[in-house]
Amino acid sequence: MPKPVVRFVCQSCGAIAAKWVGRCETCGEWNTIVEEPVVRPGPAGKVLGGRSVAFVDLAGSPAPPARAATGIAELDRVLGGGLVPGSAVLVGGDPGIGKSTLLLQAAARLANAGRRVLYVSGEESVDQVRLRARRLGLADAPVELAAAVNVRDIAASLEATRDGVLVVIDSIQTMWLDAIESAPGTVGQVRACSFELIRLAKAGSFALALIGHVTKDGALAGPRVLEHMVDAVLYFEGDRGHQFRILRAVKNRFGATDEIGVFEMTGHGLAEVANPSALFLAERRGNIAGSAVFAGLEGTRPVLVEIQALLAPNPGGSPRRAAIGWDAGRLAMLLAVLETRAGLRLNATDVYLNVAGGLRVNEPAADLAVAAALASAASNQPTSAGTVYFGEVGLSGEVRQVAQAEARLKEAAKLGFDSAALPRRVARGSRVVLAPDRMRLEEIGHVADLVARFAGDQVRNT
Ligand code: TYD
Ligand code: MG
Repeated sequence: MPKPVVRFVCQSCGAIAAKWVGRCETCGEWNTIVEEPVVRPGPAGKVLGGRSVAFVDLAGSPAPPARAATGIAELDRVLGGGLVPGSAVLVGGDPGIGKSTLLLQAAARLANAGRRVLYVSGEESVDQVRLRARRLGLADAPVELAAAVNVRDIAASLEATRDGVLVVIDSIQTMWLDAIESAPGTVGQVRACSFELIRLAKAGSFALALIGHVTKDGALAGPRVLEHMVDAVLYFEGDRGHQFRILRAVKNRFGATDEIGVFEMTGHGLAEVANPSALFLAERRGNIAGSAVFAGLEGTRPVLVEIQALLAPNPGGSPRRAAIGWDAGRLAMLLAVLETRAGLRLNATDVYLNVAGGLRVNEPAADLAVAAALASAASNQPTSAGTVYFGEVGLSGEVRQVAQAEARLKEAAKLGFDSAALPRRVARGSRVVLAPDRMRLEEIGHVADLVARFAGDQVRNT
């Protein structure tokens, strides 16, 4: 075998260097030089070494992947119907959010349904996992449990047990491969261990669930580099101070992304929440200025949440703006639009925005509800208790159409709301939205119209 030929390529500008250097001499970037193998053409332009790959046509037998439903409906929906054999799923989230609990509950359900399930814990001892199982009332489930961290040992055990339907690795940060010198949890280890485990899953056709810890800024090594290697990435999020937990698919090769599952952490494990809107609105108190209900959409599912705004005078200094559960940049933009296009003066006011219940809202459709909460807080006039809001706000203050108005309205009607403030095009356009009976639609064409409804003369300077 001839020695493999390598070269050093800058990942920033593509320049080729003769040896590794810390700084690219062409573009001046630091730490961009990476060693790459060189594929040399052989005599007469032929590539040396390597067999030709068989290409097939796009048609063929597209058999849908056989799935193993876990029986936890909220989890199955996020997975796109259940676990797919030969696939790898990464379940990421902050430490202590409930990843081990969720996977142990899913493992027990599958095992009770007669599937083979192996649970490998690298974080907790066998006794600790047993204690958790007892607390969850799952001690009798025939899950096969082991405490191990060495991927070579795990691989040897898995090769002998190829029929395992689900293998849970808790967590990938504790796994360790002796071929790599760095410590467990480092990017190199996490990547190498995952690569090995995923290869085994594909070869043995079992479903692999990898648990991964991630901090708020994704700083902890691991999950970010893993996202490219696995077939599905689910993030388990929520505030530890709240009992709600949201499982969100951010990548799924076998289903839709943006789908969410909602759980509630109880004294005996995670309980499914079939009707999240009712839960998110449970603690809402009517007739309070600064609160508006947003008819949102998470994946295919309509979810109603309460948006709360609080304004506090701050005559001197620079005013504070803080948003929990919503994008701070979007809040700044909306405040600028309200000020410039609707004359709402908030420049000497601290603004706090909160999405009640711990949900994180990513939809621009929430703009109108946020604007309503802010206008309501500014005028000290409550929004009407039976009204939901949705619509995107543009930079000129126009309220723009959003997707799936009908689903939002249906959910609102189901929860007893009798009116909706929504973009004009939705209410009047050529394709008239089929609003449920008794639902009153109020068209809002511009945020100035919205602000004008809250008759707060003290804040309107235009
Ligand atoms: P855990 O699943 O260990 O989190 P992770 O694996 O993501 O680190 O969950 C830990 C938290 O959940 C812990 O603070 C205790 C709480 N918990 C309950 O409230 N009820 C329960 O039944 C269980 C098992 C845990
Ligand atoms: Mg855990």
